[in-house]
Amino acid sequence: MDEIYLDNHATTRTDPRVVDGMLPWMLDEYANSGSTTHAPGRRVAAKLDECRANIAKQFGTEPDGIVFTSGATESVNLAILGVALHPRQKRRKIVSVVTEHRAVLDPLKRLERFGFEVIRLGLETQDPATIGMLKIDEVERAIDGDTALVSVMLGNNEIGTLQPFSALSAICRQQGAILHTDATQAVGKVPVDIVGIGADLLSFSSHKFYGPKGIGGLVIHPDSMSLPIQPQILGGGQQQNLRSGTLNSVGVVGTEIALTIAIETMVEETARIASLRELLWSELKKRIEGLRLNGPLWTGPLRGQQLHGQQLHGQQLQGQQSSRLQPGPTDSGSHSVAGLHPARLPGNLNVCFPRVDGQSLMLRVPQLAVSSGSACTSAEPLPSHVLMAIGRSEDEARGSMRFGIGRFNTESEILRAADVLGKAYEDLSRFVA
Ligand SMILES: Cc1ncc(COP(=O)(O)O)c(C=O)c1O
Repeated sequence: MDEIYLDNHATTRTDPRVVDGMLPWMLDEYANSGSTTHAPGRRVAAKLDECRANIAKQFGTEPDGIVFTSGATESVNLAILGVALHPRQKRRKIVSVVTEHRAVLDPLKRLERFGFEVIRLGLETQDPATIGMLKIDEVERAIDGDTALVSVMLGNNEIGTLQPFSALSAICRQQGAILHTDATQAVGKVPVDIVGIGADLLSFSSHKFYGPKGIGGLVIHPDSMSLPIQPQILGGGQQQNLRSGTLNSVGVVGTEIALTIAIETMVEETARIASLRELLWSELKKRIEGLRLNGPLWTGPLRGQQLHGQQLHGQQLQGQQSSRLQPGPTDSGSHSVAGLHPARLPGNLNVCFPRVDGQSLMLRVPQLAVSSGSACTSAEPLPSHVLMAIGRSEDEARGSMRFGIGRFNTESEILRAADVLGKAYEDLSRFVA
């Protein structure tokens, strides 16, 4: 049975070019980069400096603005707990969104137990062009002078929505709140420049963009280098004490190669992947009557334009924590690749199959690797919190499937996937009245 992997939001295949580039740093140059008393250690340290500088440049920051971690979960924990629990932090409010990943939601629950007020914003549920997006007037009401941190995902891992960051960043700047973005799904798929986005902190995981697992990072805006962040892992004091532990040199090398490839090939790859998404959507619609799209449309007028026009109220506050100076460019500027609609990640498709259960449908297509929700929460038999937040009923959420199309998928795989799903749906729907 030929398997078709369409779960590229959960993880991606490590690109063979990345593996090739990593091998010498496992087999030959394996010294600890902290062992600068000897030549092998210094060679690894020099390579890591070079990779750090290149990675920093791709994100629009300085080399010291990259803290390597074990992945996005650790980066997000460092950002959220590190900012909120720093002894100099006097503000007691955190603003986030109901559709965040568990890596964000769970640290927020912990902060609530420590006495923080956590506001979880809802999202647009009606307008097909902006479904799953923040409502900027609600954001404005939620963020005030007591807000320590705002954490909003850049691209959603289930429905692919890209958020209006320039408007959000302007509000945070005005109130002096630190802005963190979980950019795990967006990095390598859309341009992610921390200055353009206007966030202070940004989390990523390399295995989501064809790099190795077990490595990621927290990116710090060049003007926010002195933000007070409490380290969460203590030990040898590596990475300016922000994250102790021997650097994963092989992972850093792999990250640098993966990111470089992703950025160099983004324009063509985005166009190809977006057209495969379009093909899958149209082929599924042909076969399944009443199939519904979960999340925003990727055609039609750009939603960003209406959001950029929002006027902000109030004056610049004194005593801001955040030191970002430049206003970010427009959202369509910060996420756009020529031809890509900036509302949704190019490889994301999430659909609701009428009258059937997504898990039962998946059991009938064992050759397809897809997800009926977020892979990270699929051990729980709960309907997706993201689909519920955009107004789907429990049954609709359970009847939904997420496809993540990636670099290694082909047109023939997409056609085959539509075919087997169409047939499986027909079979299954015979059993439901
Ligand atoms: C949006 C988002 N944030 C965080 C994570 C956690 O990433 P990792 O498991 O690499 O730490 C994921 C993984 O699925 C994700 O999609």
